[in-house]
Amino acid sequence: MSVQLSAKLSHNLADAEARMMRFDIVTLFPEFFKTPFEVGLMSKAIARGIAEVHCTNPRDFTQDKHRRVDDEPYGGGVGMVLKPEPIFAAVESLPVLPRREVILTTPQGEPLSQQHFKTWAADCDQLVVLCGHYEGMDERVTHLVTREVSLGDFVLTGGEIPALALVNGVVRLLPGTVGKAASLAADSFEDGLLDYPHYTRPAVFRQWAVPEVLLSGNHAKIAQWRRSQQWERTRSRRPDLLSPDGVNEEVDEALEPPLS
Ligand SMILES: C[S@@+](CC[C@H](N)C(=O)[O-])C[C@H]1O[C@@H](n2cnc3c(N)ncnc32)[C@H](O)[C@@H]1O
Repeated sequence: MSVQLSAKLSHNLADAEARMMRFDIVTLFPEFFKTPFEVGLMSKAIARGIAEVHCTNPRDFTQDKHRRVDDEPYGGGVGMVLKPEPIFAAVESLPVLPRREVILTTPQGEPLSQQHFKTWAADCDQLVVLCGHYEGMDERVTHLVTREVSLGDFVLTGGEIPALALVNGVVRLLPGTVGKAASLAADSFEDGLLDYPHYTRPAVFRQWAVPEVLLSGNHAKIAQWRRSQQWERTRSRRPDLLSPDGVNEEVDEALEPPLS
């Protein structure tokens, strides 16, 4: 049986761009996904009809009395491998929307990035995400998938955490999820740079004061300070983001208003 975590469209969205995106997570552990979609912006996006999340368990598509989803690897070796039949049957049971990607979570995939999230949020109406376990899936599952993605250069026990990160990152970008679209534009990676530092009250906490420019009320100066902080942070923490054909400090107009 598949577990459905979607909610009915509860009200019409004012945002004309708003549309529904369907996520299908193929997982042996659907219960893993219950709470994350019941809290915060994820639950709001679901309640507003912006996103629908469905979990489908390959075990429900097994034919044998033990409901086996794994078997020993051909060629020997340690660990078990997820059998192809229940995965194919689970994916083939799903509706097919016109613009869909079928994504396999694997440490051997492309590193997941904000660019993936942006592309999927803009171009897709359905993402099917396959969660592996044990040694992973039978290689023939790759015939089902359009993309393989990794959460990073480390190995987790299963694909549920990468799947959750992926759905969260895409839902966050769907029109209507985050109240002010402008707050997305300033985030890390949006234009190739890391975000600037943020402060709130009190102006002095312990011995640490908020940078004076932020209290100045001079919006041009604040914008320029923030932009230069973005550059400084990116240069020192993530110089790899500053590739020659990427974002370029020389032509960054946001740095231009003179500090006076
Ligand atoms: C223990 S891992 C399998 C690792 C695999 N034998 C390897 O070395 O590439 C089990 C499952 O967890 C998921 N997984 C683990 N680490 C991951 C990562 N960094 N990114 C995406 N998925 C990951 C995948 O779905 C994978 O099939």
